[in-house]
Amino acid sequence: MTTSMSEPKPSKGWLAKLSTITDMFAYPLRTSHYVELVNPLWTTHRMHARVVEVWDETRDCRTITLQPGANWRLHRPGQHIRVGIPVDGRHYTRTYTISSPPERDDGRFTITVKKIDGGRLSHHIVRHLKVGDHIPVGLPQGDFYLPDASPIQPLFITAGSGITPAMSMLRSLIAQQRLPDTVHIHYAPHEFDTIFGKELRKLDAGHRHYHLHEVHTRKQDGRAAHFSRDALEKFCPDWRERDCYACGPPGLLAALEQTWEDAGLSNRLHIERFRAELAPIPDDAVGGKVRFARSGVDVDADGQTNLLRLAEDAGLNPPHGCRMGICHTCNTTLKSGCVRDLRSGAFINEPGAIVQVCVCATAGDCELDI
Ligand code: FES
Repeated sequence: MTTSMSEPKPSKGWLAKLSTITDMFAYPLRTSHYVELVNPLWTTHRMHARVVEVWDETRDCRTITLQPGANWRLHRPGQHIRVGIPVDGRHYTRTYTISSPPERDDGRFTITVKKIDGGRLSHHIVRHLKVGDHIPVGLPQGDFYLPDASPIQPLFITAGSGITPAMSMLRSLIAQQRLPDTVHIHYAPHEFDTIFGKELRKLDAGHRHYHLHEVHTRKQDGRAAHFSRDALEKFCPDWRERDCYACGPPGLLAALEQTWEDAGLSNRLHIERFRAELAPIPDDAVGGKVRFARSGVDVDADGQTNLLRLAEDAGLNPPHGCRMGICHTCNTTLKSGCVRDLRSGAFINEPGAIVQVCVCATAGDCELDI
């Protein structure tokens, strides 16, 4: 299903000059705050994008075409943006990879979002976001992209929605007519729910430099379905000579890291994660009572659920961004008690210590400045 609309382009030049003068009269706000009431895309104090098209890739994955507002800057293929959306009165932020190439000549870009179980924002985007909606977005970020100059021969290994950064890279290389010899191993449950499946197959059939190996994990026995060194040798015998760009679930990425490390080639493996890499939860991990002191809310918690999720489930709305321990937007102060960093398993128990609540769980009772 596709729905779309055309968008009048904001004229940035005259707005910027006018703002300089009118800001004096708008104090303590800025002109941009009032302009936002007319057209959110013309604001300069924060970035918005308007949904101009939605396209269902599969039954639970949707591509959203966005018209960004003033001050947008082009992305590098493989980069991601932060998207913030109010759902049921609360503001949620997530990070999504841009799936379009920067070579689009209409100034728009796309994100491709798969609905995940229990994912409040992904559910909203895939089921309820509609053409004409405005959403706050951040600027493109991330260092998972192809180098500009060196003539590499890429090997892409992707799974599920991990295809999105690779898709942006492939589309960009094709738009620039400089696609080098490329091998792509992609894992998806079935043929029918392979995101961008038709486009990838068409590319494989029509482009002599692009070699796709599509593995449908639900159609095969467990051994054949998952990444293995044997499969790698079969699909890409010269993998040692290539730079590998990989994105997918933690199990796949861990197997790739082990394979490249064993071969002494870790520097040729480039990985993009959607989730933090977590340490195993020890058998003796205990939960406790979490007190969100500033909000006056107490919650009983297990020793596994991250504190950000716990706060949100309790009706709070602490600031957050990536939800995987990178951006530090969720940092808060530990007032008392003990928490466990779910990535390393390390305890944090010094009052006054900074806690990244998206990647920490309580370890006994704790009190946080939220
Ligand atoms: S939300 Fe980014 S580090 Fe926690």
